[in-house]
Amino acid sequence: MDQLRVSLCRRNTAKKTLTLLAHGWLIFVAWLILLIHVQPAWSENLTPSSSWFVDMNRFLKSAHGSLTCERCHAEITAKGKVHPNREDQTAMKKDSVRSYDYKRCAACHPEAYRRFLQGEHAKALAKEKEIQQSGLKEATPERLAPTCGDCHSSHYAQSKLSRVEIGSQMTETCGKCHKAQEVSYLKDIHGRMGVFLEKKASAYCTDCHGAHTCESLKDKQKAFEACQRCHRNATIQFANIVIHAGPEDISKKDPEKQANMVLIGTIKRISQIGTIIILAFFALQTFVWILRELHNKLRGR
Ligand code: HEC
Ligand code: HEC
Ligand code: HEC
Ligand code: HEC
Ligand code: HEC
Ligand code: HEC
Repeated sequence: MDQLRVSLCRRNTAKKTLTLLAHGWLIFVAWLILLIHVQPAWSENLTPSSSWFVDMNRFLKSAHGSLTCERCHAEITAKGKVHPNREDQTAMKKDSVRSYDYKRCAACHPEAYRRFLQGEHAKALAKEKEIQQSGLKEATPERLAPTCGDCHSSHYAQSKLSRVEIGSQMTETCGKCHKAQEVSYLKDIHGRMGVFLEKKASAYCTDCHGAHTCESLKDKQKAFEACQRCHRNATIQFANIVIHAGPEDISKKDPEKQANMVLIGTIKRISQIGTIIILAFFALQTFVWILRELHNKLRGR
């Protein structure tokens, strides 16, 4: 009898230890998950700040980590100049992205630089320069065109990011200046698939517009060519599909696209009303069913 009790007792302690171990293990895993807070690489703020601090840990891990500072900043010691002149307040206050001469990047990235020069943004930059030189303050555009430094962080740029990471990061970057298009893109099937569902087959801003050319796609033939990169069997009608269907969308000037927008709006509204009717029907049915059950039960008693 006593022997049996001892063995039972032993079995109990063994069980208790096991559950304790299991709980401990679970708590440990939860703690680990909390510690390693899940953060995709692109969610770090990679855009340059106006700080003069260079985070060497991040710099050394970046794509340019193996370069010496002089490869990009030779002029700091050139001509006897060391750092911007403290006396010259305009130079001190100038945003470093605006004052850096990005022609230097062309030495190692000639293709990116060449394509950038062909694009919309280079044209906008040239116009800005003209306006600056003409001295007409009123003509200054409300937003500046981007140079390399607006889209890439020279100190912390990473290579070997995945397509989804680059695409999501760039959606945010382009969106800083093209807010309306970012909003409408994220509502479009491509944005939902590419950014929210992280499907790499989807189209990101630069798949349609080109990474460094950033072409305008107002021209239907150009838009059609962009769609054909992935929709191989598309016909020219495909270019009538509205990608940026936001309130500030330029398609308002296009009667054909405008008609499509109205059609899409009507279909959306009809399907919304349909869903509400179906849901209301089922809710009502459940309610009546509960009433009947209640009625039956009360009657049975
Ligand atoms: C691949 C080229 C490149 C390398 C390498 C590089 N820089 Fe820069 N740096 C830039 C560019 C371009 C800017 C202008 C702002 C921008 O585009 O981020 C800049 C800006 C700066 C600034 C101005 C403040 C700021 O962050 O905007 C400082 C200070 C600086 N760099 C220091 C350094 C130091 C120190 C090193 C070496 C550890 C270094 N840089 C290496 C390209 C480079
Ligand atoms: C001395 C040569 C050199 C200069 C100058 C230079 N880079 Fe780079 N860059 C590199 C190398 C090397 C890599 C790494 C390539 C790799 O890992 O595939 C790189 C990678 C990059 C990447 C990441 C690309 C990727 O692989 O996805 C970007 C963005 C970039 N550079 C932008 C710039 C910009 C902007 C400038 C000008 C401020 C610049 N670079 C100046 C050599 C240079
Ligand atoms: C409007 C934003 C934008 C500007 C401005 C821009 N880039 Fe890029 N860049 C991108 C995007 C987006 C990619 C990602 C690659 C892709 O989508 O094909 C990229 C990729 C790169 C790469 C790696 C892939 C490649 O094509 O070699 C380098 C290097 C690079 N850029 C350098 C530059 C340089 C140098 C400049 C300035 C002349 C510049 N970029 C200006 C958006 C920009
Ligand atoms: C720093 C601000 C800035 C950033 C970042 C930027 N753009 Fe632009 N973009 C401009 C300006 C300014 C123009 C000139 C025309 C205008 O004002 O609309 C322009 C023009 C364009 C045009 C042609 C518009 C037209 O009406 O002809 C396209 C397309 C475009 N950008 C796409 C992009 C894409 C894609 C990205 C990201 C890879 C991007 N932009 C990032 C400021 C920016
Ligand atoms: C699936 C292809 C596609 C994607 C992805 C896309 N666009 Fe567009 N975008 C277009 C087309 C087509 C137009 C022509 C305007 C229209 O709808 O009439 C356009 C128009 C624009 C314009 C107005 C200038 C012009 O005439 O082209 C800007 C700016 C722009 N897009 C920026 C962006 C930005 C920023 C993103 C990412 C957040 C993006 N686009 C993603 C296809 C695309
Ligand atoms: C980088 C590739 C890519 C580009 C460029 C692209 N798309 Fe798409 N698109 C997709 C993918 C992936 C889907 C998801 C559905 C599928 O698998 O066919 C899709 C879906 C669609 C759909 C939903 C209906 C369908 O076919 O399933 C429409 C409409 C559409 N795209 C229009 C356009 C238009 C218009 C353009 C040009 C302005 C364009 N796309 C450019 C990749 C792309």
